Amino acid sequence: MNASRPSRDIYLNNAATSWPKPDSVIRAVEQYLLQPPGESGRSTDALSEDPVSNARETVSRFFSCPDQDHVVFTSGATESLNMLIHGFSALHPDPFHVITTDLDHNSVLRPLTTLADRNQVQLSVIPSRNGHVSAGDIRDTIRDDTLLAVISHGSNVMGTVQKIREIRSALGDEIFVIADGAQAAGQVPVNIPALGVDAYVFTGHKYLFGMPGTGGFWIRNPEEVRPVFQGGTGTDSANLRQPSQLPERFESGTPNYPGIISLTAGISFIQETGFDAIVSHAQQCIDTFYEPILESEDIVCYSPSPDLPVFPVNIRGIEPDMAGFILRTSYGIITRTGLHCSPLIHDAITGGEGCIRISPSLLTDPGECRYAGEILCALAKKVNMSGQNL
Ligand SMILES: Cc1ncc(COP(=O)(O)O)c(C=O)c1O
Repeated sequence: MNASRPSRDIYLNNAATSWPKPDSVIRAVEQYLLQPPGESGRSTDALSEDPVSNARETVSRFFSCPDQDHVVFTSGATESLNMLIHGFSALHPDPFHVITTDLDHNSVLRPLTTLADRNQVQLSVIPSRNGHVSAGDIRDTIRDDTLLAVISHGSNVMGTVQKIREIRSALGDEIFVIADGAQAAGQVPVNIPALGVDAYVFTGHKYLFGMPGTGGFWIRNPEEVRPVFQGGTGTDSANLRQPSQLPERFESGTPNYPGIISLTAGISFIQETGFDAIVSHAQQCIDTFYEPILESEDIVCYSPSPDLPVFPVNIRGIEPDMAGFILRTSYGIITRTGLHCSPLIHDAITGGEGCIRISPSLLTDPGECRYAGEILCALAKKVNMSGQNL
């Protein structure tokens, strides 16, 4: 094995949560925490700068949304998807049909399965081929009672990006379409109005470089989703009913100020970097990782030409969890093994066994991807020569 262990651990689990964060994000959060907290928008602090409004403006500009107030902040993609799916279902008392895909994450599949278990929905799961779902398959699945479709934009296992605009067209105008942008936002340019969806979900702590517990969604028509939460908004406080206007309709309780500030700083970092540089860095990571991997007969590669730098692989002859443990403890390479909360795509590609997922970010040196690729190949060779006696 030529590669020598680098002096620090190599973090290749950015599809779970990104690390490191840009210095500007750390500084922005530190600055906020060093001052007494403001409660902008609340009566006591009318004079302070409003980090939530700043963030709303930044997010809406980033996603080209014309209407800032239609951007809603939540604790992340999971909360957003639950609010949208359960809030949509609450306005449709009769059972209806929903379309999703085998690429989707448990933050989509579990709320939908919960509704199916209660006989509130019937669920069709479109199988993907090589990480892509076909608009034709989706069109063929539509029924008279199809009211909702929830579609993964970027797959957290296959690293593929779906053609959301095409899928929206196949679904027609009557179906409420939610795109889960947890993996795509920050990795590819996203113009939400151009995608034509009714709601777009994002998370802050992955490729937008914010802190965990941040994210949100954009919604075209708030009247199509009933608010699941009620609580204090700092406005119209004599009213015991939840305000119906945006963003208060969906935002109650004390905002996650440091998180929201980190999200603004993370998006500013992406905007300063620019998508040309982001996409070309991602391609460099893909090329350098796969160069040795695609040569190896001892490695199973489930997505050899991804759109995003997310690499699902297995070493023949060794369980993914064991491989991940060895990579971490012997070579300082941090990956994520198992089913990655997306069990249906794993049923299709690994027979439900799971795999090792390698996921760099913009802040990963492509040399580290090369090192990881070489180490995996060397480990695979060792396993297959020794018959697993490592
Ligand atoms: C595709 C996808 N959707 C949703 C989620 C959930 O995101 P969050 O951590 O913001 O709840 C994830 C995170 O693992 C994801 O990869």
